[in-house]
Amino acid sequence: MPYAHITGWGMSVPSKVLTNDDISKMVDTNDEWIRERTGIRERRIAEERQSSATLGAEASIEALKIAGLLPTDIDLIICSTSTPEHIFPATACIIQDKIGATRAGAFDLSAACSGFIYGLNMAALAIRSGSNKNVLVIGTETLSRFIDWKDRNTCILFGDGAGAFVLQASEQPGGAYGAVMHSDGSGGDLLTIPAGGSRNPTSELTLRTGMHFIHMDGKEVFRFATRVMAGATNEAVEKSGWKLDQVDLVVPHQANLRIIEAAARGLKMPMDKFMVNLDRYGNTSTASIPIAAVEAVQQGKLRPGDKVVFVGFGAGLTWGALAAEWTGPKQATRRVVKLEWFPWIAPIRSFLRRLGRAIEGIIFGRKS
Ligand code: COA
Repeated sequence: MPYAHITGWGMSVPSKVLTNDDISKMVDTNDEWIRERTGIRERRIAEERQSSATLGAEASIEALKIAGLLPTDIDLIICSTSTPEHIFPATACIIQDKIGATRAGAFDLSAACSGFIYGLNMAALAIRSGSNKNVLVIGTETLSRFIDWKDRNTCILFGDGAGAFVLQASEQPGGAYGAVMHSDGSGGDLLTIPAGGSRNPTSELTLRTGMHFIHMDGKEVFRFATRVMAGATNEAVEKSGWKLDQVDLVVPHQANLRIIEAAARGLKMPMDKFMVNLDRYGNTSTASIPIAAVEAVQQGKLRPGDKVVFVGFGAGLTWGALAAEWTGPKQATRRVVKLEWFPWIAPIRSFLRRLGRAIEGIIFGRKS
């Protein structure tokens, strides 16, 4: 049975920064309150031209560069997002087209902030079953488009960004090991965008009452999160046949520093074993774990051979964890690739396919 190694990683965040002071000009809040209650100092906000697909595509190209693969080497794309481009088509398909991953199947996964863990686990299982060899997992969000900027309970928390991992099959032991995925739909109303789906289609009423924005019971979500983080980490570690003290780094969902500190206390692990970067990005939902992992690598906190646990929680309610032995790029098999060309070639290819369909439509339309 092949192992599923993480051989590429990338991130993309908008350059526009929104500080706590900026938010204090919009709602009744202040920098001190936000920092003390959440640990967040600033977050990134997408420009008009940016979206979940553009950020996701940029993160994917970065991950492919590190893995030394071309988009055409990818056979499956799993895109986790709660802020998709549309209800359909899937954001994964839009990214597939943008990067030119012409051989890949592509689908979206909806498990909110736990989505990247779910996606990683699905990718690892697809590889371990022998069904796929090279899988791209993306977590991408433009949450700023779903925030009520008059609601101080939510607008202080969230930010935009994307992260991506490449997983590859290998006969060498390592990569993804034990994982757990949990859910409790009875808590669905604690964190929700109530309108815009089939239950409450968009209407004048849903717009007037702000049901297309994020609604959250912060206290209850906080209680839930502090309850499940340590448990899920322990489960993934046990399933891997490891002991907790063998874990080199935990990369938790970046929602609130106090939640991460509670998890550290629950696990009796020092805070320096937890990657934290929420001060600069806020909660980027499903993108927060891969973004934190990329920065952990850049800062030398995550090195080849390290035992790492990714753990998250979110709307649904959902929660989960995945333990992995960090591989790093497979230098030996790296090819010199013209990856830079793909973001230019892919739109031309996409245009030609649309043109071909239009010409076919005219020809067959005339015949019928
Ligand atoms: N600025 C200033 N005051 C604020 C405020 C803000 N942005 N938001 C709330 N307050 C006020 C409240 O009105 C309340 O005032 P009161 O005591 O006069 O009624 C007081 O601060 C305490 O509010 P409370 O909601 O109890 O704060 P809290 O300590 O629970 O912190 C959150 C609020 C949202 C930061 C916290 O509950 C949280 O992080 N929850 C988890 C959210 C989360 O992670 N969501 C994503 C999951 S993936």
